Amino acid sequence: METFWIIFVNLFVCVVSKCIIKQTHHGYKEALCMNQGLTSVPTYLPHDIRKLDLSYNNISNITGGEFSIYVNLQDLNMNRNVLEYLEPSAFHGLRLLRRLSMSKNNLQLATSYPLGVFKPLYNLLELDISRNMKDDSKNNISYKIPMNELVNIQELSIDLVAKPYFGKHFRDLKYLQKIRFEFCHVRYLHNYSFNDMPENITELHMSACYRFVFMETNVLGPFSNLKTLNLTNSNIHLTQGLKILYPLQNKNMDNILFRGITNNVAELDLGSVTLTTADMKYISTICVKTLDLSNNDIVSIKNQSLLSFKFPECFENMLLSGNRFAMNNFAINFFIFLGKMRNLKLFDYSYMPIEFNNPVYLNVYTKDNNQSLIEEREDGGDVRIIPVIMPPSHLEYLRITHIMGVNGIKKIILIKSRLRHFEISYMDTYIFPKISIVGNNHIQYLDISGINSVITIGKFPVLKHLRTLIMKESKMYDVLRTNKTILKWFPNIRTLDISYNFIWNIPSDGLGELRLLKHLNLSHNMLESVPDVLISFESVIELDLSYNLLTTLKRSIRNWIEKQYEKHGQFRLYLNKNSFICSCDTKDFILWISKNKAMLDQKGNYTCWMPVDKGRTNYTGNIVNAYQDYFVECDDKIWLEIGSSLLASIIFIIICATLCYNLRRRIIFWFYRTLRRMQEESVNVNFEYDVYVSYSDDGTQFVKELTDTVENCGLKICCEDRDFLAGEPIADERARSIHLSRHIIFLVTPSIVQNEWSRFEIERAKFEKLSKELQKIIVITKDISLDEIPVEFATIWNQVNLIVWPNEEEEIAVAWKKLLIWLF
Ligand SMILES: *[C@@H]1O[C@H](CO)[C@@H](O)[C@H](O)[C@H]1NC(C)=O
Ligand SMILES: *[C@@H]1O[C@H](CO)[C@@H](O)[C@H](O)[C@H]1NC(C)=O
Ligand SMILES: *[C@@H]1O[C@H](CO)[C@@H](O)[C@H](O)[C@H]1NC(C)=O
Ligand SMILES: *[C@@H]1O[C@H](CO)[C@@H](O)[C@H](O)[C@H]1NC(C)=O
Ligand SMILES: *[C@@H]1O[C@H](CO)[C@@H](O)[C@H](O)[C@H]1NC(C)=O
Ligand SMILES: *[C@@H]1O[C@H](CO)[C@@H](O)[C@H](O)[C@H]1NC(C)=O
Ligand SMILES: *[C@@H]1O[C@H](CO)[C@@H](O)[C@H](O)[C@H]1NC(C)=O
Ligand SMILES: *[C@@H]1O[C@H](CO)[C@@H](O)[C@H](O)[C@H]1NC(C)=O
Ligand SMILES: *[C@@H]1O[C@H](CO)[C@@H](O)[C@H](O)[C@H]1NC(C)=O
Ligand SMILES: *[C@@H]1O[C@H](CO)[C@@H](O)[C@H](O)[C@H]1NC(C)=O
Ligand SMILES: *[C@@H]1O[C@H](CO)[C@@H](O)[C@H](O)[C@H]1NC(C)=O
Ligand SMILES: *[C@@H]1O[C@H](CO)[C@@H](O)[C@H](O)[C@H]1NC(C)=O
Repeated sequence: METFWIIFVNLFVCVVSKCIIKQTHHGYKEALCMNQGLTSVPTYLPHDIRKLDLSYNNISNITGGEFSIYVNLQDLNMNRNVLEYLEPSAFHGLRLLRRLSMSKNNLQLATSYPLGVFKPLYNLLELDISRNMKDDSKNNISYKIPMNELVNIQELSIDLVAKPYFGKHFRDLKYLQKIRFEFCHVRYLHNYSFNDMPENITELHMSACYRFVFMETNVLGPFSNLKTLNLTNSNIHLTQGLKILYPLQNKNMDNILFRGITNNVAELDLGSVTLTTADMKYISTICVKTLDLSNNDIVSIKNQSLLSFKFPECFENMLLSGNRFAMNNFAINFFIFLGKMRNLKLFDYSYMPIEFNNPVYLNVYTKDNNQSLIEEREDGGDVRIIPVIMPPSHLEYLRITHIMGVNGIKKIILIKSRLRHFEISYMDTYIFPKISIVGNNHIQYLDISGINSVITIGKFPVLKHLRTLIMKESKMYDVLRTNKTILKWFPNIRTLDISYNFIWNIPSDGLGELRLLKHLNLSHNMLESVPDVLISFESVIELDLSYNLLTTLKRSIRNWIEKQYEKHGQFRLYLNKNSFICSCDTKDFILWISKNKAMLDQKGNYTCWMPVDKGRTNYTGNIVNAYQDYFVECDDKIWLEIGSSLLASIIFIIICATLCYNLRRRIIFWFYRTLRRMQEESVNVNFEYDVYVSYSDDGTQFVKELTDTVENCGLKICCEDRDFLAGEPIADERARSIHLSRHIIFLVTPSIVQNEWSRFEIERAKFEKLSKELQKIIVITKDISLDEIPVEFATIWNQVNLIVWPNEEEEIAVAWKKLLIWLF
């Protein structure tokens, strides 16, 4: 990083302070005057500036000579002004200027640029005058702009008017390599439309053609040296896009970027794309390095025409995402063909075959034999089993994500592979390939999100170079419970993302030894406390715990964070959207938030629930500021009474409170429940009821209320009076019903002492709980004091969730919510 010396020039404070002058220690000086309401070019800036940014001002005319004092100027930006006319001497003196940008003004190609205006700019390399022509005129517009005065220009961004007539002076641009047509008003391009273009153009970009452009077959004829054709997101239709490659047959090209060029054009009968051999006729003869056909509504591929490329070895990047074709009938041949692309470095086959809401497309292109990659977010059958695929060894980047109805691949063999980035995610599959590696492996990045971890675990050999592992949304809660070796194949990872996994607990050895782990993302899980296992991770410097159900951070965790900070000099902690409590029990934590040195999200100011303030929420930041008011009485006996035993139930009240106010969480619970159903199905536990209710005579009224409320929420209750099969022995019937229920509720009312069955039911509940099928035992006490509860409950007390049913109406509402949460 270079150090910038920022000097505010305050000679004429009122005007000059509008610009910021920056200077590096190399003497490079720039003036930044954006968005200052300037109506003319400022003349009071230091004369030796090299860069001047006047964008977002109000300059309309350049009368001439204003710039001549800035003889060293190399970069001039006047985007987003109201420029209308340039006097012939406008740029007088700018003989060193290399880049000039006047995008988004009102300059007219035919009238705003008088002869001679560009004469001084003979060193200009880049000119941007795009997004100026606003009218969509039906007239022929000739590009009277004296382009030929820019004798050295290499890159030009310009609008494409409805009926363009370029003129012979364009042919003089010997060094022009890159032309970018923006604001594309054109509707029809003839064979001869680009006849005046200089012959050495290597890059043609045509974007923002929102209306369909009809193109004659030979329209690209004049561009005989074209290496890059970028039609991304223009309305051209893939079928036509493939046709206009006619003059480029048998050439070598770097990029053919045809992403998102297919829209429906009803009048021309152009709809979804079915690729045929005829469509592929021209492109198949081109030796192209990067081919992007993403997001083109390709629904079907006839006669395996996608495999008709004559030079598969030319491909370095192939992107086919966001289409709708399935490879079912030629998948095997496709993977054989993939093997022939022996220089392939990147393969992206994602978001298929249905339309996804927010696909992320990759921006990939080849430049001077170097590859660039940027991710871009846009707004906007029967399964065959493939036994084995062997990706080409040059492949460095493989992405197959968001695929429905995918072919199951049993095995992927990587031979002497250079693969660095390996992403197979969000697939609707029940087979995950076993990955085997011959020779060294270089995999550094592995993303297997969105696939149930049950099927991915153990499918990889030890990846010792792996630095980043992403396993979002992979239902890890389940595997973590049963399998302790889940990460042992990735011993050296630095970054681990296991967000959205419904994790509520991590066993003490659940993640193994991750000595080098630095960044751990546990957000969007269901942690009620921070797992102790983290304390064993000595390299962690970033921890994301946001969107969990934490009420506080234990002292041991706080100490660990401080130790990490001391050791590494930094620590980032994310705690937003938890269920923190501000009470005497947590006051150390609340204070700690404000004092510790770790870098916190939300500036360490989180919502917390306040038992003292009648359960309102406030912010930890505010509480710390008013610390005396809140915590001064902490040692008093009032507080002791509400002490820690209640904390547990408060936690749940909070969850309920958040549940009401927070749609997100409601969705989480819904998913959680659905997932659990699925999980239960997979292990063949089929609960007939959600809840079994055990009660005695004086509870009948309440049970009716309970049944109504709970069944309103879509849960199914089993109660003796209603659901027992007639004629069965009553004990068997009870045992059977408890067995078929996910949870059991004991309603403890005064008459329970007379209920001969409650002891039996407690025993059954204990048995079912032990055999792991019964998930929760809930005891509701109503109109009975705790010491009257039958002694039998003592044996299951530690497994019980207790609700002391309140009498106040407000509290009753909370109790219902709490109950429902437990049942979900
Ligand atoms: C630009 O000038 C116009 C009229 O000359 C004026 O209405 C407008 O407010 C000015 N804009 C700014 C940002 O100063
Ligand atoms: C800008 O120049 C045009 C053409 O010379 C002239 O009609 C217009 O009045 C000028 N505008 C300003 C604000 O000077
Ligand atoms: C527009 O230009 C084309 C080709 O130069 C010419 O044939 C046509 O007559 C022109 N139309 C008008 C209205 O000038
Ligand atoms: C185009 O490029 C070729 C090779 O780079 C060169 O020989 C030729 O002179 C260039 N054409 C023009 C008109 O400059
Ligand atoms: C292709 O065009 C799109 C749209 O204008 C642009 O975002 C993208 O950067 C271009 N690609 C290259 C390689 O220039
Ligand atoms: C455009 O050129 C192609 C190829 O040379 C030719 O087949 C076609 O007829 C031409 N179209 C027109 C309208 O001249
Ligand atoms: C596919 O190939 C068969 C035989 O090779 C041919 O008869 C048929 O017309 C082709 N279909 C298309 C759509 O190209
Ligand atoms: C290509 O990449 C290499 C290594 O990243 C770099 O050294 C080289 O300058 C790049 N070449 C060009 C033309 O960008
Ligand atoms: C954990 O998963 C691996 C790989 O599937 C398996 O070999 C191992 O037996 C599992 N361990 C347990 C305790 O289930
Ligand atoms: C953790 O994961 C979540 C969800 O995937 C993401 O939004 C968040 O930015 C990640 N946190 C960090 C620190 O990268
Ligand atoms: C939060 O706490 C501050 C500081 O005691 C207090 O001024 C404010 O009224 C409280 N806000 C709410 C919503 O209770
Ligand atoms: C904490 O955040 C809340 C909500 O953004 C804000 O009202 C409050 O002033 C903040 N408190 C502190 C101390 O920054």
